[in-house]
Amino acid sequence: MSSNGFRILSHPILPVKPRPAFSFFWQGQEMTALEGETIASALFANGVRIFGHHHKDGAPQGIFCANGQCAQCTVVADGLPVKSCMTLVRPGMRVEPLDGKPVLPDVRGVPQMRPIETVEVECLIIGGGPAGLSAAIELGKAGVRTLIVDDKHRLGGKLVLQTHKFFGSVDACYAGTRGIDIATKLEEEVRQYENVQVWLNSTALAVFSDRKVGVLRDGNRYVLVQPHVLLVATGAREKSLVFRGNTLPGVYGAGAFQTLVNRDLVRAARRLFVVGGGNVGLIAAYHALQAGIQVVGLCEALPECGGYKVHKDKLARMGVPIYTSHTILSANGEREVESVTIAQIDERWQPIPGTEKTFACDTVLIAVGLDPVDEFYHKAKEFGLPVYAAGDAEEIAEASAAMFIGRIRGLEIARALGRDVGEIPPEWHRTAEVLKSRPGAVVREDIPEKEEGVFPVLHCSQEIPCNPCTSVCPQKCIVIEGEDIRGLPEYVGDECIGCEQCVAICPGLAITLVDYRKDPEYPTVTIPYEFPPETIHQGDVVTVMDTEGNVLGNVEVVSIRAPKFADRALLVRVRAPREIARRIAGIRVQEPAVAEPETRYVSRMLEDEIVCRCERVTVGEIRALIRAGLRDMNHIKGITRAGMGACGGKTCTNLILRIFREEGVPPEEITESVRRPLFVEVPLGVFAGAAAEEAPAEVPPTRKDVHRWGM
Ligand code: FES
Repeated sequence: MSSNGFRILSHPILPVKPRPAFSFFWQGQEMTALEGETIASALFANGVRIFGHHHKDGAPQGIFCANGQCAQCTVVADGLPVKSCMTLVRPGMRVEPLDGKPVLPDVRGVPQMRPIETVEVECLIIGGGPAGLSAAIELGKAGVRTLIVDDKHRLGGKLVLQTHKFFGSVDACYAGTRGIDIATKLEEEVRQYENVQVWLNSTALAVFSDRKVGVLRDGNRYVLVQPHVLLVATGAREKSLVFRGNTLPGVYGAGAFQTLVNRDLVRAARRLFVVGGGNVGLIAAYHALQAGIQVVGLCEALPECGGYKVHKDKLARMGVPIYTSHTILSANGEREVESVTIAQIDERWQPIPGTEKTFACDTVLIAVGLDPVDEFYHKAKEFGLPVYAAGDAEEIAEASAAMFIGRIRGLEIARALGRDVGEIPPEWHRTAEVLKSRPGAVVREDIPEKEEGVFPVLHCSQEIPCNPCTSVCPQKCIVIEGEDIRGLPEYVGDECIGCEQCVAICPGLAITLVDYRKDPEYPTVTIPYEFPPETIHQGDVVTVMDTEGNVLGNVEVVSIRAPKFADRALLVRVRAPREIARRIAGIRVQEPAVAEPETRYVSRMLEDEIVCRCERVTVGEIRALIRAGLRDMNHIKGITRAGMGACGGKTCTNLILRIFREEGVPPEEITESVRRPLFVEVPLGVFAGAAAEEAPAEVPPTRKDVHRWGM
């Protein structure tokens, strides 16, 4: 057995429960897997990150989306090509890399065909994430016969990856509760309704012109679902980026990383660099630190990070450098990522020579935004099937907004189906708009003047929809002026009793409590801390930072508590000189040496960046065709195969559109590729009702290099 040195054995937030272990085989080598994990996670846990080699140029292939969207992770398991990120590993499974194209399995004779079942429901919800579950709860209450189809092995969508406490309002969307726990609450509520059925491990494949939705149930049974109304709550897929080395194993989406780390408890990296300063990138970097992974830096092309400032500040305080107005030039390495090179950019977004920096790392996370998974919605509209969308499939926003809008959609659908659910309160729409809103302007931090008694310091200086601190204060000392929860919270009056509840609940870890009552010269400061208890002890000397991540000094830890109300966070009290006490916002967890750049600079080569990952088509190839006058993406596809691969153009379409823009082609001149069902690859046999594993295995060997997958 090989050692499983890449597993997370303890985590400050996530329970690490013992699971039965068993053997499987990778290239004939026996390895250990844990019950319930995917092939991809089992391989990562055994240190394998290269899953095959591309048929076109032999380039190494590895995981990219970990969400069934890209097919980069395809391996051959027990003779069949499968997406390793979506397929559970089984005891004794023999897994081989996909080197070149898959080969048809040996099959003799005609498999047994079954008639295709049609299931009629009032409402079909595609996607069991925050929006879909919230809608299902309202539909459940209204007595609507509802079916949720989700391609994962448990409900919750991206919520199950979120270890942090949620923003928003306590009343509207569980603010102050961790995403993983919200997933459990929503699932428990949905399961109470007998009229709501759930198909897990089941993938919606397409909407057809007869207004039926094709679903691959349990991974092997094709079913047609005929809904009266469709709700598309399919979430989002991550945007990609072109740069040299962008397809090296070790470059992948932030969501993929969170799946490996937070769902599967695999330490997917040792040293990580993050590209993109939106909430997704900032949160992924924080999750990496929680899992014991070094984060060597984060770069953002804009002059300021687009995510919440409290997320950015939190990261800076932990010791992660944030490079704004910087872009990635290259991921470097022969077979997988060994380093990353970034550079500062000018106002025309061009790299400034001489500003290049290279960091040693084994993983580069791409977190440059999300695109709605909306193809089901558009096809349903085209074919006249009544359809609604909610969550990221409708508009990219926080999960708190997705939950609230899911409730609204649920009620709208119930009404459309003739249920008497009353009017949707007008303030719900207003709340939805607030929860969707982008972060507001940053104001100067308001540090209290006084140095006596006990009071909270709110290191929160940007208007975002968030109010748990105001809800939790028993003295009602923290208030937001007016009705809008995007206002900045303020400490008012003098009634603080030092209960520390505001410190514990703040999702941004942006509240400290300063207590001068025992020793005015050396007050104590309570700091929230979400790292394993073994990383901090009473008596330790720790480096404390201000809000923006500047070092204030070294201070002693005088106590550590884990009260129930802090929900797995620790409340660390330090004793600090009065000159710095009020400005302390956090404890550094990563030493500066971790994030030092290397002295060598890796030069950039243009035009060999990959646009179409499936067919390995470069920027240079696409650009040459655009310069030759092509304006129809279908023609570009026909010539280069860009967009013709297994993912169905999900990744490259936007990148090709970007090259058009770079070349100055007006959008009205461009003809986009035609989107055709299916939207997810599937073995052709399922359409005939032949389950894959039932196919008899005795046919003469068929021609090599033939895909057995539809699309
Ligand atoms: S990494 Fe598995 S489908 Fe994208």
